[in-house]
Amino acid sequence: MSRTRPPVLLSHVSLRAIAITGLMLAALAPGLVGCTEAGDGQIRRGRSSAKVNPAVAARQKAERAQAEAERQTGSLLEKSRAVFTTNLPTRSDTATPASAEQIALGRMLFYDQRLSKGQDLSCNSCHDLSAYGIDVREPEGHREVSKGHRGVLGTRNAPSVYNAGLHFRLLWDGRAENLAHQARMPILNPEEMAMPSEEVVLEVLASIPGYARAFRAAFPEDPEPVNVDNMAAALAGFEAGLVTPSRFDYFLSGQRDALTEQEQRGLATFIRVGCTTCHMGPTVGGNQYQKLGLVKTYQSKDKGRFEVTGAVADTYIFKVPSLRNVAETAPYLHDGSVGTLDEMVALMGEYQLDISMSPEEIVDIVAFLESLTGLLPSEYIQPPRLPPSSRQTPKPDNS
Ligand code: HEC
Ligand code: HEC
Repeated sequence: MSRTRPPVLLSHVSLRAIAITGLMLAALAPGLVGCTEAGDGQIRRGRSSAKVNPAVAARQKAERAQAEAERQTGSLLEKSRAVFTTNLPTRSDTATPASAEQIALGRMLFYDQRLSKGQDLSCNSCHDLSAYGIDVREPEGHREVSKGHRGVLGTRNAPSVYNAGLHFRLLWDGRAENLAHQARMPILNPEEMAMPSEEVVLEVLASIPGYARAFRAAFPEDPEPVNVDNMAAALAGFEAGLVTPSRFDYFLSGQRDALTEQEQRGLATFIRVGCTTCHMGPTVGGNQYQKLGLVKTYQSKDKGRFEVTGAVADTYIFKVPSLRNVAETAPYLHDGSVGTLDEMVALMGEYQLDISMSPEEIVDIVAFLESLTGLLPSEYIQPPRLPPSSRQTPKPDNS
């Protein structure tokens, strides 16, 4: 592989530990979620009118000066390590990494349209690996939700598959436990690849001699290797290598000039206003559930985890998304309803934190978020040569 990797720092730290640390930080951090009461002598944040109040402007000026001081003294690096804990590992399955044969099989499956009913959709259709793992089939501005079998529109925005293996759960409502669990879902989902049953998926795979060989090589101990568990494990093994280190990782591992002054100011603001209560850990999110519209109701048809648990308390609860590569993965939110990062940052301030940020603060935060755009593993994601079908291979079904 040709990509450069930042030096690995504390890569053994378990993500569970990170999630717990995160929760502890959330509990300790003052003035953050749900806490809009002003402390002694503090100007009460939020609900500030559109016109700039001089007291607010003075506060913002003082805070920018503080951010600058933090940048110069290096205390920003210490704070960042406390919240983000460590830079990205090189794979998400660091405990039992997949074998080279499993990764190669998973790569083929990821790109193979024959796993869909119409044989016209692969995982890569909606998670284009050359485009940061999202669905770019529609032109920009028309990418809210994905089209599945026979062009049926889904209801949610396709999140990136990059770094997904590092999230504590998968999908917007967290209903998948891990990559292997998730990998079984889209193939049978009638709004996505729409295969009628696991039997039909296996019939397709077994009819392709190159797959029979690849499954045997990937799972040599298994007497009947062509099965759905192995298919999911191979896909997961491949996806586990979809990790995108960025300049932010160099910063976390101690190279302070890896981020520009503005990006560091944005990072300081991101921490100070409390974005890190929810977007924390190496993936800058992806390790807890939170309510969309924590301090102000956000209108959304999708009720998030409520759809999974039926518990009223889970209404509008979503997995906090990772912000890795976020500058490349518009549109935003579970329904793709927000088009730009500027809007997104302002919206988060208003609905999650009860603050209204100055235009400078927003621009700085966006600059920081852009520094989370990582390197794509260009060799690892090269589309493979797919094994040819045989006469037994079922034909596309467009019903
Ligand atoms: C038709 C488009 C489509 C296809 C095809 C598709 N996906 Fe997805 N994918 C989505 C959407 C939409 C979501 C979000 C769904 C949700 O949260 O309910 C998603 C979510 C995911 C996630 C979770 C990411 C996260 O941040 O939680 C992973 C991982 C993933 N898909 C992998 C795959 C794999 C592997 C395949 C092939 C077996 C695949 N997808 C096929 C549209 C698609
Ligand atoms: C209380 C928790 C919480 C806080 C605080 C918070 N966020 Fe979020 N953020 C979320 C949740 C939950 C979502 C996803 C909601 C959805 O899609 O329905 C989200 C989504 C986002 C997204 C869209 C990502 C995507 O891929 O769609 C961005 C960008 C973002 N937040 C940035 C920020 C910034 C910047 C701040 C600080 C100003 C912040 N967030 C504060 C919980 C939070």
